[in-house]
Amino acid sequence: MPVISVCSPKGGVGKTTVVANLAYAFSRAGTKVIVVDFDPQNALRLYFGLPLNDDRGYVTTPHNDWASACINIDKNLYMLPFGKSTKEQRAALDEAMAEPDFFKNVQGGLFNNPNILVIADFAPGYTQALESIASVSDMQVVPLLADAASISLFSQLMSGGLMDGLVGGGLGFYIILNQIDNRIKLNREVQDFCNLNFKEQLLGMIHRDTSGIEAAGQQMAVFDYNKNSAAAFDIEIIAKKVAQKLGFVVNKGTMTINPLRKE
Ligand SMILES: Nc1ncnc2c1ncn2[C@@H]1O[C@H](COP(=O)(O)OP(=O)(O)OP(=O)(O)O)[C@@H](O)[C@H]1O
Ligand SMILES: [Mg+2]
Repeated sequence: MPVISVCSPKGGVGKTTVVANLAYAFSRAGTKVIVVDFDPQNALRLYFGLPLNDDRGYVTTPHNDWASACINIDKNLYMLPFGKSTKEQRAALDEAMAEPDFFKNVQGGLFNNPNILVIADFAPGYTQALESIASVSDMQVVPLLADAASISLFSQLMSGGLMDGLVGGGLGFYIILNQIDNRIKLNREVQDFCNLNFKEQLLGMIHRDTSGIEAAGQQMAVFDYNKNSAAAFDIEIIAKKVAQKLGFVVNKGTMTINPLRKE
């Protein structure tokens, strides 16, 4: 069923924050969600209440049995942490993922389950995981900051030249402008630029909001930390747009078959 890849050429733009909060938004709306951490930093687990010393992860499980490494976080919410790894284990994982159709065949049960929404978090830039998942990815969500550097990335994204052309499968890519502060003129200008040139690709904006940082620090969803925060409202709107684009119904706990899915 739907696989959403949250990726970006740049680090520190909010990928992990977006993955965690989208997962909370969908799971509490009744959709079964698995979040998958493809970043060896292994930090996504910290947004889901796993203790720092919890080293579990799929990197050390047999490559055809990732399901056994899934951890149940909450009702409707599961996570597949990367795990603590050595250089050799990461190399072996990359080699396994480089097998043709690794995600279609080897991980088919997890990544092609019609009842589970997969939201995947990546390290910045090109990675083997991003290349391998491209064949099953239905949508790429690219968080960017509304700064000068991002403007050059927008045009690269549009021409398909970003991250070695790995962004653009399924429905294609959608941008989220993160850490927006409307008091900053450049932030307003970048929003105008995006609205003018990339309106179709602009999924939404997330305001700069300390609730997000505090929530992460306390291993909570931003909704639980402060449901009236600007970021919580923003994520809710983005989640609804994502569901609409992927063609599934939230709030009823059901998902329709995605008509764009290439079987
Ligand atoms: N809307 C926001 N308002 C305030 N702080 C934010 C917001 N979004 C993210 N942050 C903070 O910015 C920092 C970077 O966010 P995050 O770790 O999600 O980025 P990332 O793209 O996953 O980074 P990396 O490339 O290292 O994986 C974190 O401290 C996070 O709490
Ligand atoms: Mg991250």
